[in-house]
Amino acid sequence: MAIRTISDLEDSKYAGKRVFVRVDFNVSVSNGSVGEDYRIRMTIPTIEYLTKRGAKVILASHLGRPDGPSQKNSLEPVARRLKEIVGRSRMCVRFANDCIGPAVENEISQMNAGDILLLENLRFHKEEEANDLEFCKKLGHLADIYVNDAFSTSHRKHASTYGAAKLFDTRLAGLNLKKEVDYLSMMVTNPVRPFKVLLGGAKIKDKIGALEHLLPKADKVIIGGAAAYTFLKAKGVRTGKSLIDNEHLPWVTKALATYGDKIMLPTDHVAAYSPDDKSVTMVKGDIPDDMAGFDIGNETIDRYSAEVGIGNGGMVFWNGPMGMFEVGAFANGTITIAKSIALAYWRGAKTLVGGGDTLEALKKAGVAENEVSHVSTGGGATLNFLAGDEMPGVAILEQ
Ligand code: 3PG
Repeated sequence: MAIRTISDLEDSKYAGKRVFVRVDFNVSVSNGSVGEDYRIRMTIPTIEYLTKRGAKVILASHLGRPDGPSQKNSLEPVARRLKEIVGRSRMCVRFANDCIGPAVENEISQMNAGDILLLENLRFHKEEEANDLEFCKKLGHLADIYVNDAFSTSHRKHASTYGAAKLFDTRLAGLNLKKEVDYLSMMVTNPVRPFKVLLGGAKIKDKIGALEHLLPKADKVIIGGAAAYTFLKAKGVRTGKSLIDNEHLPWVTKALATYGDKIMLPTDHVAAYSPDDKSVTMVKGDIPDDMAGFDIGNETIDRYSAEVGIGNGGMVFWNGPMGMFEVGAFANGTITIAKSIALAYWRGAKTLVGGGDTLEALKKAGVAENEVSHVSTGGGATLNFLAGDEMPGVAILEQ
């Protein structure tokens, strides 16, 4: 079913109207200052689109998983960063100390066309996650039009993503949410070929749903990170003390039996006795019993890079690092793969990168955001979408 975006509504409908925009400003904040602000920057096109048409933009988000109000989870530092980002334009950005109630309503009543108000953390009220009807009504009372530009939170059936949205006659997708849904839908319905999927990270369990959908569709599925050791174990390779997901070993064994010809696995590894071990060793084939693999080895890097970076066109999806890249000695696989993804893009492939860690990896590799077709804001949401799971925040926008 089609979702209507903010550009499907006539411009005149926005003038002077209060627009509630669910954004995902769940970013890292330490000592009152925002770290990576990618999620904030990705909402700017939507915010600008609305303010330019005279809307009063009311932004709402969660930050972390707080147990009641706390300074640590306040969105005030995010409001400051947002102000810096939009600072050069004439838009006015204010911050409200709560997300519902008379003080917030009063603040909204004083907004002018083109103003922006960021509400305090929705999750300071437990009713947000409970999708409580009274709370939904209070949120619904704040605005005339509902917009969701928080793809990365759309797998949650919360008040701000679902219950409150339902109460609005006009529910629209923001520009970034639409872009994310379009890219991911293309991957599962009509991928550009050859379609290559690179999956890394530690936990297989989080990726099984996505793999079940992607394995039949992809031309190659390239596995790295700790997830690879469970695949190798299923093939009878000795994996030493490497992280193994025994619970999902039967699933992996079955996947290999069905799709083995398109699954690529590491053939060598950067191994060590422990993650803090300074003397790392390159191991080919079996990993010694007292060692664990922490990154893909040089031969594997060459094979994977060639598969991803060489060739013209096609589509590449990457989620999850190839090794424990936060440790310098185990970062080479992830960094080289990030560079190969950029190379694929320059050679004409559509490249989609998803997941917080993967964005961090791009930065470490010196790959700019505009050297990737699309960097998804979603981690869990992206995998849920690819697994075909219910996305209440998207479904409620469908007309
Ligand atoms: C995320 O960071 O994945 C989203 O903001 C959702 O956060 P949550 O997992 O706490 O709901």
